[in-house]
Amino acid sequence: MQILFYSLTGVTKQVAEELGSQLNAKVTEIEIDTQYPEGDIDVLKDFVIEQDQNANLPHILNEISISHDDVILIGFPIWLQQPALAIKSLFKTVDLIDKQIIFFCTSGSTTYEEIKPAIQAVATTGTLVGGLKVDPSNVKSNDILELLK
Ligand SMILES: Cc1cc2nc3c(=O)[nH]c(=O)nc-3n(C[C@H](O)[C@H](O)[C@H](O)COP(=O)(O)O)c2cc1C
Repeated sequence: MQILFYSLTGVTKQVAEELGSQLNAKVTEIEIDTQYPEGDIDVLKDFVIEQDQNANLPHILNEISISHDDVILIGFPIWLQQPALAIKSLFKTVDLIDKQIIFFCTSGSTTYEEIKPAIQAVATTGTLVGGLKVDPSNVKSNDILELLK
């Protein structure tokens, strides 16, 4: 098992690291080249919408080595009712075929169920086992293990 995650403001990172310690799994941050504008959330949202509409996805800067892992946990913040764009980049550049994939996300109010169609559109390779939203103040790796049963 390996945990891959993208996090802009640290919430998903905190969850990923906690899951990594509970599950004794390797944790790898997805690093991207895009410098998102800081400060005004609306400016950031417009930037993300434009990047998405122009299919101008971020490039992943670090090497993602997952050849020895069958189960891959992928963590991200929900952005505009979708996974953050780095997750689209991941599926376009890293071969996830033959992997069992579990998503975990953090967000304000949007639930995992609400973005499931968007997730299915992004997760074009591998076997999507399931996913869930995680409360950063109450990370329970058992919820993830349940999905694998
Ligand atoms: C550009 C942008 C769009 C967002 N869109 C949503 C959304 O549609 N629904 C929601 O509940 N939260 C939304 N959020 C809030 C984030 O999902 C939430 O703060 C998340 O925990 C941040 O994770 P991070 O610190 O790992 O980046 C958005 C945040 C940003 C920056």
